[in-house]
Amino acid sequence: MNIKSYQPRKLSIPVTELEQASFCQLDDNLRSKTLEEEFRSGVKWQKVPNRYLKMSPAEIDSEVKRMKSIIGSKLYILGHHYQREEVIKFADTTGDSFKLALEASKEKNAEFIVFCGVHFMAETADILTSANQKVILPNMAAGCSMADMAPSEDVQDAWNFVSSFSGNYVPITYMNSTAAIKSLCGENGGLVCTSSNAEKAFAKYLEKGKKIFFFPDQHLGRNTALSLGVNLEEIKVWNPFKLNGGLSNEEIKRAKVLVWQGHCSVHTRFTVDQVEIAKNEKHAKVIVHPECTNEVVKSSDYTGSTEYIIDVVSNSSPGSVWGIGTEINLVKRLSLENPDKEIFCLDPIVCPCATMYRIHPAYLLWVLDGIAAGLVINQVEVDFETKVNSKIALDRMLEL
Ligand code: 13P
Ligand code: SF4
Repeated sequence: MNIKSYQPRKLSIPVTELEQASFCQLDDNLRSKTLEEEFRSGVKWQKVPNRYLKMSPAEIDSEVKRMKSIIGSKLYILGHHYQREEVIKFADTTGDSFKLALEASKEKNAEFIVFCGVHFMAETADILTSANQKVILPNMAAGCSMADMAPSEDVQDAWNFVSSFSGNYVPITYMNSTAAIKSLCGENGGLVCTSSNAEKAFAKYLEKGKKIFFFPDQHLGRNTALSLGVNLEEIKVWNPFKLNGGLSNEEIKRAKVLVWQGHCSVHTRFTVDQVEIAKNEKHAKVIVHPECTNEVVKSSDYTGSTEYIIDVVSNSSPGSVWGIGTEINLVKRLSLENPDKEIFCLDPIVCPCATMYRIHPAYLLWVLDGIAAGLVINQVEVDFETKVNSKIALDRMLEL
């Protein structure tokens, strides 16, 4: 099929991106308020029955505990490290997106898997679990602004265009993307990666002389390609709002890596100035997530996935000082769990990931109340065809 062009999309900013600043604050008191109070920031979260709106955090806490013990072993709660304290405390397993995908694929007994994370993670769990297991996302509005920057149809059109005149491209998608994009990768010889295995995923294809079209995080894509020795000039950004991604045919043919113009609204807040202040004024070692810009990554001492950050910081010697460039709930937790170290977030303004934040404890209680009453609220289900091909792409990742 010869596709003559990629038609630009109407410029739009995901609502999840617009809401990112809604919970930024100056003090680092991250304690939850009632849902009614949280709603005053004007955010568009999923509607819940009125009785959950006014419940105090303490009431919710004891009800979640009670429901968990009533439901028992039929229930398995997964919690991403960026979840707030009042939610993560109920998780049976915590992890980064790679670890949670593995845990979901290993969990064979629980009938209900409640995923305290974001939508793409729940979809992945549904793909990796068996047909009799139900994956539940407590708040269906808990998306991810980065994933929302790559609508599946746009990615499919861009892929059709690029692959039609250069057959050497392979699609790789970051876990932070829809199941439909994962399926596209499975169908076209590519795979899924997370920040903990992006280098292995890129190397697998670059070593064979293949070119990569990476979705949707330009920063992880650029940082990974550069770390494997690809030159900056050989990495081109695909702008979905421009005709043919804003690239000439020659540029697409000459590039080694194309990166979709998406970003994480949390990790792109970190700046080189913040890194310099941490190093020069606070005498800290700096560790950042690879979703940060390349300038920030270059000026830091270490870069790696959420699980890597936890590992390096927890295993450092007592008295170490760490400036961390990742989500605030994780940084706060690391600081509490390592009282012998000085740990702070690089950004002085406290901004939780607004989409992870949508898993308010009241939503967790709502879905648990449902399960106890025989009702499945907010089941995340990927259709059969998408499941087949996205599982291929995920299995290729698990084999890396
Ligand atoms: P991890 O792969 O480190 O869990 O990253 C997920 C994520 O959403 C980071 O922003
Ligand atoms: Fe998405 Fe960034 Fe939040 Fe991760 S931290 S879920 S990439 S918006």
